[in-house]
Amino acid sequence: MKLLVINGPNINFLGIREPEIYGSDTYASLLELIAKHARETGVEVEFFQSNHEGAIVDRIQQAYFDKVDGIIVNPAAYTHTSVAILDALKAVSIPTVEVHISKVSDREKFRQISYVSKVAVKKIEGRGFCGYVDAMDFLIEYLKGKENE
Ligand code: DQA
Repeated sequence: MKLLVINGPNINFLGIREPEIYGSDTYASLLELIAKHARETGVEVEFFQSNHEGAIVDRIQQAYFDKVDGIIVNPAAYTHTSVAILDALKAVSIPTVEVHISKVSDREKFRQISYVSKVAVKKIEGRGFCGYVDAMDFLIEYLKGKENE
């Protein structure tokens, strides 16, 4: 099983950006946490982070050719604006879980819109870095269920 974890703009600045919201742990430590969980659960995981919308669209399209089974995406600020990322996820038809480190539903009104939610099989918010681990567990079970259909 191959999973792709995509993070959008400013997620590479974890540990530096707004620690009162996103915590003081770094992006590198997030990747370590996910990689460790991948080893424990026996899944293959790839990472991608970009501050550029088009690069994220390109990576989602590439996932189709790479035969990625599931996507975990935190589109960050593009969550609230990007029809292009929604359309890319629709185009590749790869089961996707949306993750937010903070509890976006308790934040500003402009964060209440999520385009990606329209295609995601699940949305996880407000669980900090653990949200990515939860997303992996959910996707693994979801994809196993699909295999047995
Ligand atoms: C975020 C929430 C977004 O509103 C924000 O723009 C981010 C991070 C989160 O993980 O909580 O950059 O997606």
